[in-house]
Amino acid sequence: MNEFYQKDTISIKDFNKEQLEKVFTSTDKIMQLDPSDRREICKGKTLAYLFYEPSTRTRLSFDSAMASIGGNSLGIADTNSSSTQKGESLADTVRMMSIYSDVLVLRHTLDGSSRFAAEVSNKPVINAGSGTEEHPTQAIQDLFTIKKEKKKIDGLKIGIVGDLKYGRTVYSLLYGLGNYDVDVRLISPESLRIRSDSTYEIKQRLDYTESTNIEEHIDELDVLYVTRIQKERFPDEEEYLKVKGSYVVGLDLLKQMKEDSIILHPLPRIDEISTDIDKTKNAKYFEQAEYGKHTRAALLGLTLNENGF
Ligand code: CP
Repeated sequence: MNEFYQKDTISIKDFNKEQLEKVFTSTDKIMQLDPSDRREICKGKTLAYLFYEPSTRTRLSFDSAMASIGGNSLGIADTNSSSTQKGESLADTVRMMSIYSDVLVLRHTLDGSSRFAAEVSNKPVINAGSGTEEHPTQAIQDLFTIKKEKKKIDGLKIGIVGDLKYGRTVYSLLYGLGNYDVDVRLISPESLRIRSDSTYEIKQRLDYTESTNIEEHIDELDVLYVTRIQKERFPDEEEYLKVKGSYVVGLDLLKQMKEDSIILHPLPRIDEISTDIDKTKNAKYFEQAEYGKHTRAALLGLTLNENGF
């Protein structure tokens, strides 16, 4: 039996290197399949999405991924229009959605929300972002993008810059990178360093350095992963205003980078990457978003087919 069958995807920590590589191989297969064969993978299956926070890419890429493999989607993109407004609990909403579907995709403001949902759902749950904790399918997409664009992950120097405190994609990426032999440079304002309650676990998984100065590292990096300062997660707007615009990747910075380096961003971007960068060969964030559709299709195909595809 395929080991992903009916499994929840709650944390990237639940994936070892071999399992990540299996998802990547399945993604390559999805990308190569003839569209009519691809549509057989999840024919007749239904995905339900339940989003308590805004999303463009994650929700729509799941929707698009499911359609590409022959399934369909239904769900709640805005809880203001659901019975959540009447006071229905997350547990009851999840129970309802799992009656109508084969797999549930949940984004929620709270850490631990997906794990809780998995306990009450009788269908597999995929975490589409839980508070500041994790965004595992984003990490799968990020690792796949690095592998596709750099032809490897092991041996790379990877800079992660921006909001390392509140950015859940950062935590999932770091846990995922822990499966590889990489040199990680974390670059952020002092107040946005990775959270101290996570440093022990991250240090168990990989070596990293911390700095506030992007110029110190920029000429050595193979991958620059830029993140947005997460205004909505700051308890105090004054604190946000102090760090707003701390790093802007523009053509002047790009000139200092290795010729074959790549720039990634989970998106949405606000002003941390200048739009001048978009047309350069180093900018890979839109390709990254496109790979997200295919990696999610692969994960859905593996989750919903006992013998894989
Ligand atoms: N990267 C990401 O999670 O984007 P959305 O918030 O648009 O889903």
